[in-house]
Amino acid sequence: MIFCLADKKDALQIAQIHKNEIDKGFLSSLDIIFLGNFYGALIESKFSFCIVAKEDDRIVGFISGVFDLDKFYRYFLKNYFFQSVVLLCKKVFNISYIKKILETLLYPVKEKNLPPAELLTMAVLKQFQGQGIAGKMFFEFLGEMKKRDIKTFKVLVGEELKSAIAFYEKNGFTFLKNTTIHNRKSSRIYLYDIK
Ligand SMILES: CC(C)(COP(=O)(O)OP(=O)(O)OC[C@H]1O[C@@H](n2cnc3c(N)ncnc32)[C@H](O)[C@@H]1OP(=O)(O)O)[C@@H](O)C(=O)NCCC(=O)NCCS
Repeated sequence: MIFCLADKKDALQIAQIHKNEIDKGFLSSLDIIFLGNFYGALIESKFSFCIVAKEDDRIVGFISGVFDLDKFYRYFLKNYFFQSVVLLCKKVFNISYIKKILETLLYPVKEKNLPPAELLTMAVLKQFQGQGIAGKMFFEFLGEMKKRDIKTFKVLVGEELKSAIAFYEKNGFTFLKNTTIHNRKSSRIYLYDIK
């Protein structure tokens, strides 16, 4: 198994793993091409990165991070949003859908006093879970954060994602507070201090 920075061509495979393994979240409800564009932007922009675990060239897990969430969203809107908007057209006239997009984009504004860096998403294919893969990806993740001299980052995790909550608590994250986005869906915010 190898752990490395993702390449742009990995974006769609990563999006597929996201859709399969984080099936309850808002991002998972997006069209696969849109989600692929989102990961393409994460891989490409200088404000973000994505690490993958590969077995024989097949991606079995990933972890993504941003050094500055606000700057990343601006990069995404500038470079990808309008080319992706056609994909949203079917849903875009649905008010609750627009609300969810705005909530996702505005959450950094709403939660003002948080560090700009964030662990954005992480997933391992079900058949590969429980083998320490996320732990190894997280080690590489910390390396990338350190290279950018990041001292603290946050993660927002849905209350229903029990395996992820267990992972963060096992790996030294500190619970900060509860928050609600997406129609009062409860989420937790954790912080991680890099020693
Ligand atoms: C969270 C997730 C990425 C962990 O991946 P993983 O490769 O199975 O994790 P690891 O094997 O490295 O586990 C490390 C530690 O995390 C904790 N952990 C991971 N999965 C757990 C689970 N299902 N239940 C309880 N604890 C768990 C354990 O403490 C584990 O250490 P241990 O095995 O020594 O007890 C994986 O379960 C997953 O993809 N979940 C669905 C997607 C998700 O919720 N993503 C987070 C949203 S951003």
